[in-house]
Amino acid sequence: MNKSLETRVEKLKEEFKKIFGKTKDIQLFNAPGRVNIIGEHTDYNGGYVLPVAINLGLLAAAGKRNDRKVCLESLNFKKKVVASLDVLKYEKKNDWANYPLSVAWVLGEEGIELSGADIIFEGNIPVASGLSSSAAIEVLTMKCLLELSDRKIKKERIPLLCRKAENEFIGVKSGVMDQYIVTFGKKNNALFLNCKTLEHKLIPFHNIKDTVIMIGNTKVKRGLAKSAYNERVAECNEGLKILRGFITRGNIGYLSDIKKEEFREYKNYLPPIIAKRCEHVIFENERVKQAVESLEKGDVDKLGKLMIRSHKSLKELYEVSCKELNIMVETFLESDGVYGARMTGAGFGGCAIALIKQDAQEEIIKKASKEYKKRAGIKGEFYVSRISDGVRKL
Ligand code: GLA
Repeated sequence: MNKSLETRVEKLKEEFKKIFGKTKDIQLFNAPGRVNIIGEHTDYNGGYVLPVAINLGLLAAAGKRNDRKVCLESLNFKKKVVASLDVLKYEKKNDWANYPLSVAWVLGEEGIELSGADIIFEGNIPVASGLSSSAAIEVLTMKCLLELSDRKIKKERIPLLCRKAENEFIGVKSGVMDQYIVTFGKKNNALFLNCKTLEHKLIPFHNIKDTVIMIGNTKVKRGLAKSAYNERVAECNEGLKILRGFITRGNIGYLSDIKKEEFREYKNYLPPIIAKRCEHVIFENERVKQAVESLEKGDVDKLGKLMIRSHKSLKELYEVSCKELNIMVETFLESDGVYGARMTGAGFGGCAIALIKQDAQEEIIKKASKEYKKRAGIKGEFYVSRISDGVRKL
């Protein structure tokens, strides 16, 4: 454990003792946030993604209870919530705690008998910034509840159940990418995931030498995240339905099953907005495969170019970027030592990432902070991220 993690853990243990009055049998867990190198809005279309787990993350200290209560506290939010395992439902007033509650709910739905729990969370992932604090708290809570209750499930089920919790309890029709990388992330590796078959492969990031990922936080909280996200999911489903009427070969379960040539042939039959959404998904999916090849060959220039194309497509075709994300990407691209940059995550605010030369990081931060402030009128935040492991018990 590094020094700063150790300090956070000690503080959390102390708070746990103060709040819950217990000193024995505290269990500690850690889950990372993530950035996605490329493959945006492809996961719920059965496509490919290439995320990495980052060293910003969440911690939980947890203890078992002898009743059916779940008591949730956070060092980041004031709101405390006590719920019964027997009556779990989404309530707006529960705010952040709906995420851990969604996980208790989904485990109950699966017939997994749980013990009551006292849990306190702490995190350094900026919330609603597209770095996946939601998947991190879901997977982290699942790990806590299973361990405290002495229940084991196959690791592969963790992301799927957390996704179900997010889709059905929270009401965001997200794909499985975030929960997968939080569960399966590996230090210094990107995860190449096929979201249809769930086959996945680790791709060493060190193939591209002396290169790191910089995160630029626009400090614009993701607006309309739930409604606009679900709207994109619906638009993709509409496109798929229409295209399936034309493409007669079998096996078209998802937009990502459609080939570029097939799309070109039939795109004029789609309403213009739907055509733009489908074009993004089908071509973005191709870019992920090329990005993996570039990463495997150590071709950092090519990888950077693919990221730039991905951003353009998200901005112009999928329309999930925003003014501040575009400024952040532009200011990155104007700095020396940057191979590529793009928004990451769902969009509508949040963070952009840049693939940069390690030794140029200070200069880039200096220049990008100044330019971003000047053009967007907001003080951005910048982090150079280490690629970390997925969820674990400490
Ligand atoms: C959010 C969702 C993911 C994925 C991304 C966009 O992070 O949780 O499932 O769809 O947006 O790529």
